[in-house]
Amino acid sequence: MGKVATSRIDRLLSSMGYGSRTEMARLAKAGGIVLDGVEVADVGQRVALTPDLPARMSIDGAALDPLVGLVILLNKPVGMTCSHKEQGPLVHDLLPRRWRARDPAISTVGRLDKQTSGLLLMTDDGALLHRIISPKRHVRKTYRARLARPMSGGEGALFASGTMMLEGETKPLLPAELVVVSETEALLTVTEGRYHQVRRMFAAVGNHVEALHRESLGGLTLPEGMAAGAWVLLDAAAVASVFEGG
Ligand code: URA
Repeated sequence: MGKVATSRIDRLLSSMGYGSRTEMARLAKAGGIVLDGVEVADVGQRVALTPDLPARMSIDGAALDPLVGLVILLNKPVGMTCSHKEQGPLVHDLLPRRWRARDPAISTVGRLDKQTSGLLLMTDDGALLHRIISPKRHVRKTYRARLARPMSGGEGALFASGTMMLEGETKPLLPAELVVVSETEALLTVTEGRYHQVRRMFAAVGNHVEALHRESLGGLTLPEGMAAGAWVLLDAAAVASVFEGG
């Protein structure tokens, strides 16, 4: 077995957004940090960063947050932005406030447009993030699109052709799979993540996407009935399913 990493308690808690190291020392003095049922007196004490630590440690009476390596599945609501650079409500606002101060930071795995809803992953695991969005992996992403106009019938063949060009681009789109649900509703599965890809694909055939919702990423599907804005932490098996067929 590899050597388990350890950390000073104040440094750990500070990196998890609980406050400065001075504040952690103050909290410990007030009896607010408990490890294995015993109040921590010295925040300079080192702890092993094992997965069971959150179950063994409490902060102000609540279980310690998940350690580094967390993966969040979020049902992104319409109207929230994935990027810090834009104005308005951010998907990060849906998570506990102190998580914004975590180091490493929690980022979205790719992006959904402000007006797109549905399955969005967030993680502080940079290597995992890059594996999921890497163009080499061809992770399948399925979107449900509601369209302004009835489809003409030729969309499926064009999207599947591998020769479709989007305006302003020089490389054709990889084949995508269209499942027609009704005249104005379709499921579209793509393996790339080009800018506004689904909206631009339908725009290229003279249509307009009125509502767009991501239902799955690889073999991971948004849980049935999950409310917009709700999120859950994923376990290793759920994360692995992202890389399965889909
Ligand atoms: N395609 C889009 O047009 N928008 C998204 O948010 C995702 C895929």
